[in-house]
Amino acid sequence: MLPEQIKAKIISNKRFKDNYWHLEFESGLIAGRALPGQFVNIKVSDDVEPLLRRPLSIHGTQSSKVRLFYEVLGMGTRILSNRRPGEFLDVIGPLGNGFSLPGKGHRLGGQAAILVAGGMGGAPLLFLAKKMILSKPLILIGARTKSKVLCAQEFKALGSAVKIATDDGSAGFKGRVTELLSQVLREAKNGGDLSIYACGPRPMLKAVSKIACDNNIDSQLSLEEHMACGIGACLGCVVATKSGYKMVCKDGPVFSGKELTW
Ligand SMILES: Cc1cc2nc3c(=O)[nH]c(=O)nc-3n(C[C@H](O)[C@H](O)[C@H](O)COP(=O)(O)OP(=O)(O)OC[C@H]3O[C@@H](n4cnc5c(N)ncnc54)[C@H](O)[C@@H]3O)c2cc1C
Ligand code: FES
Repeated sequence: MLPEQIKAKIISNKRFKDNYWHLEFESGLIAGRALPGQFVNIKVSDDVEPLLRRPLSIHGTQSSKVRLFYEVLGMGTRILSNRRPGEFLDVIGPLGNGFSLPGKGHRLGGQAAILVAGGMGGAPLLFLAKKMILSKPLILIGARTKSKVLCAQEFKALGSAVKIATDDGSAGFKGRVTELLSQVLREAKNGGDLSIYACGPRPMLKAVSKIACDNNIDSQLSLEEHMACGIGACLGCVVATKSGYKMVCKDGPVFSGKELTW
């Protein structure tokens, strides 16, 4: 199904903490079709600048509302944080291929899943966890320090066990979330039955894919490449895979860890 380009009414746009914001807009079309791992591409301003749209993962949906979770980093997200409820955003979505879910040809049914979120990776993974409510995945969250740990309460509210890793040891396991993942897998009794889903910085995803392959576990990784067009026209977001170069915006952003050659 083709993505929609719509003028979506902003319902709310609130600072959550520090530079982190939640935005909700109204679109029955996007909310009705969105799958975890898919994203929207937003023209943050009606002015010419910034020219390029900014991609943001779908963090959740509720009836006709679409929820986003974003970090203000540069001009685009700063402008977005200044947009007010009642204004209209130019949004294209849902875009890309999301995570494979239980009951849609994936082997997760009845098995355990581990979700690994690094940095803003909780944005798409919370939406995924909501769709996996019956299998209650184990959540691993990685951050540099305690104040940067995101979405832990929201994952816990779904009934999932949450383990945290911080680089400086200010919360949970001291070290990288991928070291925590290795530890969890060593302790797991049913390692071969697990599936791993991850979103976060590229080095983290590369490490997750290696750990998954070494343990013969399937992994699905959501990449956050820099994008220009967002619809497969500019080749600005290619990644190397075993079957050649693929576009993150169109063929991804979710890829099998076994497929990527980094
Ligand atoms: C499929 C996809 C889904 C995404 N989902 C989310 C999300 O749910 N929440 C969220 O906060 N961010 C998400 N991002 C990243 C987000 O698109 C960028 O942070 C945003 O475009 C930055 O725009 P800006 O104008 O504020 O910053 P810019 O001025 O463009 O850049 C500021 C800084 O952010 C870095 N940056 C820019 N684009 C990206 C990118 N695509 N990935 C990583 N770093 C980037 C730049 O290198 C620079 O250091 C996603 C990216 C992709 C490709
Ligand atoms: S961003 Fe243009 S092809 Fe992906």
